[in-house]
Amino acid sequence: MAVIDVVRGDITREQVDAIVTAANESLLGGGGVDGAIHRAAGPRLAEAGGAIAPCPPGEAMATPAFDLDPPVRHVIHTVGPVWRGGGYGEAEVLASCYRRCLAVADELGARSVAFPAIATGVYGFPADRAARIAVGTLRSTPSQVERIRLVAFDETTLTLLRAALDPPETNASTG
Ligand code: APR
Repeated sequence: MAVIDVVRGDITREQVDAIVTAANESLLGGGGVDGAIHRAAGPRLAEAGGAIAPCPPGEAMATPAFDLDPPVRHVIHTVGPVWRGGGYGEAEVLASCYRRCLAVADELGARSVAFPAIATGVYGFPADRAARIAVGTLRSTPSQVERIRLVAFDETTLTLLRAALDPPETNASTG
């Protein structure tokens, strides 16, 4: 069972074996966290991504981390669901992203993995629901990964991820 920590920061500075990027199906890079990781890893990341694309929503594919500093050896590209109101299986696709990233990490022998808040930016997935899906899926997916870091880029995401990880005490009804 992996230890899951929630941290605030820039995922490109994480000291883990693999970092996950919230990509699009082309794996050629984009804005948001994908843009930051592509900038840090250098142009070879898009070359390697383009060579294995397309990556369907809910799937995950790995490339080397290129110019990212050690210990980061791998970038795991996953494509989240575009939020269309919740009635189109978006929650299942997002859960699949987290499940497949752990499976790919296991194939790589990665023991520590950092995740951004997949799909909660450009793709518009409500961050509170996404946080619960992330924590619930990571906790219920068997894996060899020992250390998971959920990296929040802003205060709201940090609060939501922390709440998902350790829900505030509900007022237990007495009697
Ligand atoms: N480190 C950690 N998290 C970050 C960083 C960073 N450097 N930059 C942005 N984020 C956060 C955002 O604040 C958001 O909470 O990553 C989360 C995911 O947002 P996006 O990057 O917009 O990803 P997503 O919503 O999945 O949209 C993916 O956007 O960039 C394009 O190519 C990408 O088409 C794809 C789409």
